[in-house]
Amino acid sequence: MKIAVLGTGYVGLSTGVCLSEIGHNVICIDTDEQKIKSLRQGISPIYEPGLENLLIQNAAAGRLLFTTSHREALNGAEIIIIAVGTPQMEDGGANLSYIVQAAKDIAANLVQSSVVVIKSTVPVGTNDFIKSIIEEHCNESVSFNMVSNPEFLRQGSAVMDTMQADRIIIGSENDEAAKKVQEMYRPLNVPFILTSIRSAEMIKYASNAFLATKISFINEVANLCGVVGADVKDVAKGMGKDKRIGEAFLQPGIGYGGSCFPKDVKALLHTANLNGVHFSLLKETVAINDFQQELLVTKAINRLGDLKGKKVAMLGLAFKPETDDMREAPSIKIARSLTKLGAEVVAYDPVAVDNAKNILGDTIRFASTVREAAVNADAVFIVTEWKEFRLLDLKTLMTTMRRPIVFDGRNCLEEDRIRECKKIEYYPIGRPAIVIGMT
Ligand SMILES: NC(=O)c1ccc[n+]([C@@H]2O[C@H](COP(=O)([O-])OP(=O)(O)OC[C@H]3O[C@@H](n4cnc5c(N)ncnc54)[C@H](O)[C@@H]3O)[C@@H](O)[C@H]2O)c1
Repeated sequence: MKIAVLGTGYVGLSTGVCLSEIGHNVICIDTDEQKIKSLRQGISPIYEPGLENLLIQNAAAGRLLFTTSHREALNGAEIIIIAVGTPQMEDGGANLSYIVQAAKDIAANLVQSSVVVIKSTVPVGTNDFIKSIIEEHCNESVSFNMVSNPEFLRQGSAVMDTMQADRIIIGSENDEAAKKVQEMYRPLNVPFILTSIRSAEMIKYASNAFLATKISFINEVANLCGVVGADVKDVAKGMGKDKRIGEAFLQPGIGYGGSCFPKDVKALLHTANLNGVHFSLLKETVAINDFQQELLVTKAINRLGDLKGKKVAMLGLAFKPETDDMREAPSIKIARSLTKLGAEVVAYDPVAVDNAKNILGDTIRFASTVREAAVNADAVFIVTEWKEFRLLDLKTLMTTMRRPIVFDGRNCLEEDRIRECKKIEYYPIGRPAIVIGMT
């Protein structure tokens, strides 16, 4: 099939590359000339494991092209996938300006009948709205049908999640269009769930809101465990073995971040408000997350008192491991709180430093190794659970610090490694602290 993908961000690029990998002829369009230039050279503008290799292979096989021209891309496309951003607006609602522009771009360049698939996360009713925009602006002789096909991939494992998805949601009011999209995905051998367009739109928001709520729930349990002397690791294990609950998303930490959960929870709340539904559970999900993102700072104040002039080494900046994405990363809030309190912050991340510099500028310093960040520090904050941090030579690192104090916001350090240290104060989330050799 000939497929056009609008947007070469985390979703659009992963989708385009994977569809070419299963044999389709894919052309990816982006309005960002720099991105297209680098993609044409076989360089992925985002850090996503495995993506660049597949990109190079499929481009070399002639199945994957990149352009800034909607006209070129849409010519002959049987399926047009919209994967542009839908960021959050001030009032919490989703900003649909990119998707509206994409619709106009499609309408202006649609020269044959096609199926228009919205993969971007959009509020219920958006597919109908976008359909009306395309209808208004396109040539009367062409016909098209809409399909809502929300995306569930996770940054950091986008290729695997696309090739081995749990399910593919196809929301459509037209059987032919739904069949066409199923045909496109058939080689993946993933179960389809066919729904109405509005149900498909809602499935995405309800899923993300549920996962965010699960995170806030276990974070509250962890905070309580910390006070009453229970260990959240054991509690989560005991809960997760119950099949009705499941083990996923029961890891406590310093809250969710990223380009999806924060904005999608707020967009669903916004939809609920607009429709007179008081989704108070979601308001608490957000409030708990806001509190949790400040937790390490609160713990540091409780332990060290005034943070003015204290050096804090922040390990991890990206919102999660295996990505360079800094959107809504808890590290941003933490860094800003610490600097406001007069602390000196030196941060290290294996891949997200360049993106972090764009957001945090020179308010903090950036180190090129863990050791450089931690030397003479009064505390280490583990903010992102990169594998590199799990494997740290903790014993040596602690000897380079002014005070060997670790606040682990991701509970990612192994107890054995901590116990090897001659001197350490280790504070996880919802688990007993470990103090060795301190007077
Ligand atoms: N990032 C994720 O993990 C993830 C997962 C599931 C769903 N989603 C959803 O998918 C959508 C895309 O997210 P993303 O993270 O890939 O976004 P992104 O910001 O990384 O990428 C969007 C891209 O679209 C391009 N673009 C904007 N307008 C365009 C137009 N008219 N024509 C062509 N290109 C255009 C931009 O230049 C940009 O490169 C969002 O709705 C998001 O909520 C994201």
